Amino acid sequence: MTRSASAPHDSAYLLGASSAEHRRLLAQGDLLRDAARQLVARLALPAPARAIDVGCGPLGILDLLSDAVGPRGGVVGLDDNEQMIAWARQSIARLGLANVTTELGRLSGGDRPAFDLAHCRLLLINSADPAAVVSAMAAVTRPGGWIAVQEYDWATWQCDPPHPAWDALKAMIAPVFGGDVHIGARLPSLLREAAGCQEVHTAAHAFYWLPRSPCQRLLLQFAGLFGERLLARGTDPDTLATLKCELGAHLARPTTVVRESLLVQAWGRRP
Ligand SMILES: C[S@@+](CC[C@H](N)C(=O)[O-])C[C@H]1O[C@@H](n2cnc3c(N)ncnc32)[C@H](O)[C@@H]1O
Repeated sequence: MTRSASAPHDSAYLLGASSAEHRRLLAQGDLLRDAARQLVARLALPAPARAIDVGCGPLGILDLLSDAVGPRGGVVGLDDNEQMIAWARQSIARLGLANVTTELGRLSGGDRPAFDLAHCRLLLINSADPAAVVSAMAAVTRPGGWIAVQEYDWATWQCDPPHPAWDALKAMIAPVFGGDVHIGARLPSLLREAAGCQEVHTAAHAFYWLPRSPCQRLLLQFAGLFGERLLARGTDPDTLATLKCELGAHLARPTTVVRESLLVQAWGRRP
């Protein structure tokens, strides 16, 4: 199978590969595990099966796929970031996932169909060309195999009680995020149009984070990570600092709950 290190759908991962992002992705994966398990349980796979997790990060759903394909099956974790692949290898060793391997790179679009399931989670939302990624996922999927995607839609992302600093920062960060923050809403049409799936199934999951949950302060973390981009777009540094300070204080209150972006799952068979 060919892999391209410079695929046409260029999408440098703007959240980076720091140890903080490593911890954040693993913690987020734990919180999304039940939803992912429900998705995988809905996909009837042959035995043994082969699956790929595209943009697997430090674990993605490699452990769930490892179970789903069976001991004689195989799973590939693909990521275009060397550090993420190193962390994925650590996870695979720690969890003893004997049927999982990793590859560094991206789908090239010209790959042979080799998998019964191509999956991605929180990859398209960071991508400049999500249709190209989905189309490349379809290309590596065998006829009759599954393409399954899980992505957020920021529409539901809100704090309670509401706060003007939340609304202001969310509106400022969305255009610099690097992808469509409402991609979740577009998944069914993407699977139909970019992957050629005729029958598309969907499910959605909503989450509420209490103070001290690793995801409750995510918007504030994004405000830090995207600070330079915001300033480059002309955001006043004092305004940004004040908004971060006000939101930090609001999220630190023991009563501030955050309703997460809607996690949308969509899946369909390749014709
Ligand atoms: C938000 S993380 C999600 C990681 C994992 N799927 C999860 O749910 O925890 C996105 C990952 O996709 C990787 N990535 C971004 N664009 C990619 C591409 N075109 N091909 C392969 N990996 C990519 C990034 O390096 C990063 O590890």
